[in-house]
Amino acid sequence: MIMVKGIHAHYGKSHILKGVELHLREGEIIGLVGRNGMGKTTLLRVIAGLKTPSKGIKKIFSTDYTELPPHKISQLGIAYVPEKRGIFPNLTVRENLLMAARPRTNGDQIWGLDEVLKMFPQLEPRLNNGGSQLSGGEQQILAICRALMTNPEYVLIDEATEGLAPIVAEEVWTLLEEISSKGVGAIIVDKDLASLSKVTNRFAIMMNGQIVFDGASANLKSDLKLQKKFLGI
Ligand SMILES: Nc1ncnc2c1ncn2[C@@H]1O[C@H](COP(=O)(O)OP(=O)(O)O)[C@@H](O)[C@H]1O
Ligand SMILES: [Mg+2]
Repeated sequence: MIMVKGIHAHYGKSHILKGVELHLREGEIIGLVGRNGMGKTTLLRVIAGLKTPSKGIKKIFSTDYTELPPHKISQLGIAYVPEKRGIFPNLTVRENLLMAARPRTNGDQIWGLDEVLKMFPQLEPRLNNGGSQLSGGEQQILAICRALMTNPEYVLIDEATEGLAPIVAEEVWTLLEEISSKGVGAIIVDKDLASLSKVTNRFAIMMNGQIVFDGASANLKSDLKLQKKFLGI
């Protein structure tokens, strides 16, 4: 599992994360929610190794990876899909997918080009298109598929359906269900609580750089006061 504990992070003098603790068991999915500016993106970046915490420890499968650089963390099985998707506009769809391709360190391989195309046949006619020629929805699907090509144990997905038309967002949710059915764990940041509840029963709420709720979505849904207080719903 992934375990982070006592995580603090700063941007310059601003103290952003203030002692975050989060556990993610194998194959488990967490919906990470909270209003804008609360530290969700910063936390994902810390877990993926793109932001160095000022304090705290990070472990995956009991390996302490606090000091490891991002590419080593990716090899340990953590894939990150940033909010801005991060696909390479000058590379083709095929190149975007293949540059990430690799089995797990133990040799297991769930996803390769064929598997990804089976899931998303609409990427096939686009294989030779440049990344920049894709619609926002296609880019997000490509970004998630590219993360899957690394055959991760865990994926961290920031603002999974932000800015997508409802019909495309629906496809992304279907993809996320597929990921969870394969036993891959995930932290998914999204504002759509109803759709998040379809792929997970566990939510963590961030408020001012801390996790203020971590529990079953049923409790969150039934607790309107909690929703109002932490999510402004
Ligand atoms: N690169 C940065 N430099 C300075 N401050 C930042 C930077 N990125 C984020 N912040 C600040 O950190 C806080 C948390 O941001 P973020 O992690 O993006 O929150 P969320 O993803 O929950 O919206 C915000 O106050 C934001 O302004
Ligand atoms: Mg964010």
